[in-house]
Amino acid sequence: MTQRYGIKIVGTGSYVPSRVLTNAELEKMVDTTDEWIRTRTGIEERHIAADNEPCSALAEQACLRALEAAGMTPEEVDLIIVATFTADAPLPNTACFVQKRIGATNAVCFSMEAACSGFVYAMTVAAGLLRSGGFRNALVVGSEKISSMVDWTDRNTCVLFGDGAGAVVLKRVDAAHDSLRAFKLGADGRYTDLLQCPAGGSAMPVTPEVLAGHLNTIKMEGREVFKLAVNAMVGASQDVLKQGGVSIDQVRWVIPHQANMRIISSVGKYLGVPDEKVYVNLQRYGNTSAASIPLALDELARSGQIKDGDHLVLTAFGGGLTWGAILLKW
Ligand code: UT7
Repeated sequence: MTQRYGIKIVGTGSYVPSRVLTNAELEKMVDTTDEWIRTRTGIEERHIAADNEPCSALAEQACLRALEAAGMTPEEVDLIIVATFTADAPLPNTACFVQKRIGATNAVCFSMEAACSGFVYAMTVAAGLLRSGGFRNALVVGSEKISSMVDWTDRNTCVLFGDGAGAVVLKRVDAAHDSLRAFKLGADGRYTDLLQCPAGGSAMPVTPEVLAGHLNTIKMEGREVFKLAVNAMVGASQDVLKQGGVSIDQVRWVIPHQANMRIISSVGKYLGVPDEKVYVNLQRYGNTSAASIPLALDELARSGQIKDGDHLVLTAFGGGLTWGAILLKW
């Protein structure tokens, strides 16, 4: 079937809460050092949402900024997809809370769970729906309040994560102007144990015992995740470049999920792309999961570092395990 429609990003927005948590403060909370965190992860500080700022509140700000950049009103939005693993509540979905907050009264709303790959998954799903002709535009959001799911006594994980949100407005355009040149998604459920929050769902509802054992917080086998992350992101990125007929030299920016500086450097090295073309901001935000790529995209777009026609590779990896890459032509 000939493709009739494509998609274009017509606005970006992001938001991080004002409270900054530094490595020096973490030194006072768990047995860690600023030096360990910087050298093993690259992270210097992260932002932490206030008690009255749930996932949808972070998303709200990012969405309003993206709509403003797109020159659109909330009422014009057809579809809202929120990628998150830190939903406001199990029911209803977080996109509906975002809809209420911004007043997007005409939108269809749902959330998606693909952990740190969530934004890449959500962009792909939104693009599919727009290309089908059923929607004219979409707000695609990655928003996370990971501080609410972190075990603040576990030094293996609590130093890594931060809160934030990023959003893009996608518009349906003619197929000839399609920005989404290629996508590749992957998942491997054999690795569900490597990165998980064991309790709080139907398998293990919260009980006093669960709370005492901190089972409703993030658990991660960091070393194993690390190894798989590099291979998956490099493989998916090479796949989309091949599909799109674009060489790595023609790519203006590789925007990897911001989990660890060493992972990002390895991905850049194996792709054969110089450091200047790999966008990094995790020193300021830590790992914000589904928010990390749209946050980076917004910083690049607003600072004028992306020009029309630039090729971008977005690539992510996270719990599930899930991974993916997208080749965009701006
Ligand atoms: O968003 C997608 C999902 N997440 C990721 O992609 C994260 C992937 N993994 C990583 O980024 C890294 O594996 C970590 C940063 C989590 C850990 O780095 P590592 O180099 O793999 O360290 P390790 O887990 O092998 O631990 C090395 C040592 C251990 O001590 P021993 O056993 O060698 O005595 C840890 O106990 O570092 C210790 N350690 C710490 N020390 C000081 C672990 N966390 C800390 C800490 N401060 N915060």
